[in-house]
Amino acid sequence: MGQEGNCKTKGDYLALSKSITIFDRSTPGLSGLDLPEIQKEASHFIPEKYLRKKKPILPEVSENEVVRHYIGLSIKNHHIDKGLYPLGSCTMKYNPKVNDRAAMLPGFTDIHPFQPESTVQGALELLYNLAELLGEISGMDDVTLQPVAGAHGEFTSLLMIRAYHTKIGNPRQTVVFPDSAHGTNPASVTMAGYKSVQIKSGQDGLVDVSTLKAAMNENVAAFMLTNPNTLGLFDKNILEIADIVHSVGAQFYMDGANLNALLGRVKPAEMGFDIVHFNLHKTFSTPHGGGGPGAGALGLKKHLSPFMPSPIVVKNGDKYGLDYDRPDSIGKVHSFYGNFANLVRGYTYIRQLGLDGLRSVSENAVINANYLMANLKAFYDLPYDRTCMHEFVLSGERQKKAGVRTTDIAKRLMDFGFHPPTVYFPLIVSEAMMIEPTESESKAELDRFIEAMIQIAREVEEKPDIIKTAPHNTPVGRMDEGKAARDLVVKWSPITEHC
Ligand SMILES: Cc1ncc(COP(=O)(O)O)c(C=O)c1O
Repeated sequence: MGQEGNCKTKGDYLALSKSITIFDRSTPGLSGLDLPEIQKEASHFIPEKYLRKKKPILPEVSENEVVRHYIGLSIKNHHIDKGLYPLGSCTMKYNPKVNDRAAMLPGFTDIHPFQPESTVQGALELLYNLAELLGEISGMDDVTLQPVAGAHGEFTSLLMIRAYHTKIGNPRQTVVFPDSAHGTNPASVTMAGYKSVQIKSGQDGLVDVSTLKAAMNENVAAFMLTNPNTLGLFDKNILEIADIVHSVGAQFYMDGANLNALLGRVKPAEMGFDIVHFNLHKTFSTPHGGGGPGAGALGLKKHLSPFMPSPIVVKNGDKYGLDYDRPDSIGKVHSFYGNFANLVRGYTYIRQLGLDGLRSVSENAVINANYLMANLKAFYDLPYDRTCMHEFVLSGERQKKAGVRTTDIAKRLMDFGFHPPTVYFPLIVSEAMMIEPTESESKAELDRFIEAMIQIAREVEEKPDIIKTAPHNTPVGRMDEGKAARDLVVKWSPITEHC
């Protein structure tokens, strides 16, 4: 099975699919636990009408079968504990295990958000201190921890910006962003009820100052900018851009998803931004993937503070509490304090490294990206050939002319044990491959990646079919992605048939 260059047979897929769910390991009578005898019938606790009519179908497996099943799945999957995960824009850095240990402390896991404040002082103190640290890192006056994703932070910010403009007399209707923006930016704009205005970037991949000036007017609520942007380029005109935005009374929003490049070096507030979202689940090493759970805290300047989601964590003397008495607040955007466990993880990471340690994070993230870029630019097109920040974007145009698409290159990389880079984004680069190694990779791992990319570039010339039919060394071969997206059918009979 899985011979290089050979497509899998139907039999291969059947053999694989057989052990896909834990039900395939089930043996009647086996069990991994010993439950105490039931003293009272379920109907004693639960009204008859809610009781099951049939027994649930559960897998009957011993403890070691359970362990083998999940270890087996983790081996089949690609994850950050297995190898480099250069998924540009996603900052897939190593997640130190100490973060999880902290998040699993009983003092955190055994509390309930409805407990009286006096009994959750430690949790509130952690939230308060985390907000202080994020304020220090961003240079902002206030921080809210409630949003639970970067996109959620964007949406929350736009609601706050509308509340601010409404309060001063003109709610405004449009939000401007460059064509290099992450897709969540226009999505958040629409969700918040604004009209999107996308502006074209200059030849250098940065904001074109004259285009920006032409787009700004008193109907613009905000300009959203990622800096460094999704091309991995720092916008050197940032202060001039801030002035242009403020000259019409608009708010300058920083998509802070790329903050990993700036930690300990440049503060968003000093670049003139009014509000920034942090992706704690990227920058501060909390797990990230599969859509969550994340933490999209916001740092903001004083004039926006009254509009923050409520409640906020406050400190009175040596006691911590929640302040709900905020008449201009946009209200709640998530239950309780946001994703508390991820906030604990982010706090642990920051405290572990200290603010000085964060400087070496950005240093190594930028050095690693430049090392990869310098070693790969002879083999792939590099549309913006200059020092990058934490990531860079190659183009597979040269390979496309030889009949191999970027998506084929991405699939082939999996044969070498690497997760592919982000492909076909940003849209302004054709056949884009967006590569972000992060700071947590060794030179040896980066060299392995370089060798794989160079070998693939050679294969394009010498034996392109091996790329077009990749991957060959993975548990599952090439999928029909269009069908998976359009026609997803999940077949998992034990639960659906019997519950
Ligand atoms: C530049 C940029 N902006 C926004 C986001 C959205 O963040 P989230 O996935 O947490 O919603 C991302 C995601 O990685 C991103 O890379």
